[in-house]
Amino acid sequence: MRFFLDTAALAEIEEAAALGILDGVTTNPSLMAKVGVVDFDAHYKAIASLTSGPVSAEVISTQYADIVTEARHLARLAPNIVVKIPFIPDGVKALKTLKEEGIPTNCTLIFSPLQALIAAKAGATYVSPFLGRLDDIGHQGMELIRQIRQIFDNYGFETYILAASLRHPLHVLECALEGADVGTMPFSVLKQLFHHPLTDKGLAQFLADYEKLHARS
Ligand code: E4P
Repeated sequence: MRFFLDTAALAEIEEAAALGILDGVTTNPSLMAKVGVVDFDAHYKAIASLTSGPVSAEVISTQYADIVTEARHLARLAPNIVVKIPFIPDGVKALKTLKEEGIPTNCTLIFSPLQALIAAKAGATYVSPFLGRLDDIGHQGMELIRQIRQIFDNYGFETYILAASLRHPLHVLECALEGADVGTMPFSVLKQLFHHPLTDKGLAQFLADYEKLHARS
């Protein structure tokens, strides 16, 4: 499973990239606002220079022609930009056009397996089902991943399942078990994946034993 960072914070992306396990980045207008971005284009370029993996940049337009124009503009900012398109009828129409033009897309705000099926039929490179937001309203976010995986496998769709809105390590684990192609997560969740109390305890013991031995000699 590929790991993407769900952030617009450059320092976080740099730190995650240095770990050697970062496969890409996803952003959305809310994440850009959170870090106070004013010049979106410049910021997308900066993010895209920090990773060789795909960087999702979301369109603001909601009408077909505007979506396509904005998508072409975003795709020109850097070679690794993937254009994020909301799942609305005009967005779906744009997915097909952008596929024909060779522009990679990430269809976002997916909350049902049939929305994912439609996006895949339209040629989306990625679909982004939002697990955490479904859990928030008492639905089973993980069931959505399972169903999309089954549908895509049934028909041999090559669209990648990009599990989004991941809130904790258990989401990441279950996505990996269910065969999501990518998980995008906040930096706090990525860091949590490294920790286990027995690792910390074991290492402390090894180092203490080494020190004891060398104190004697
Ligand atoms: C990423 O592509 C999504 O925009 C993001 O994961 C949404 O996460 P949230 O539900 O925590 O805002």
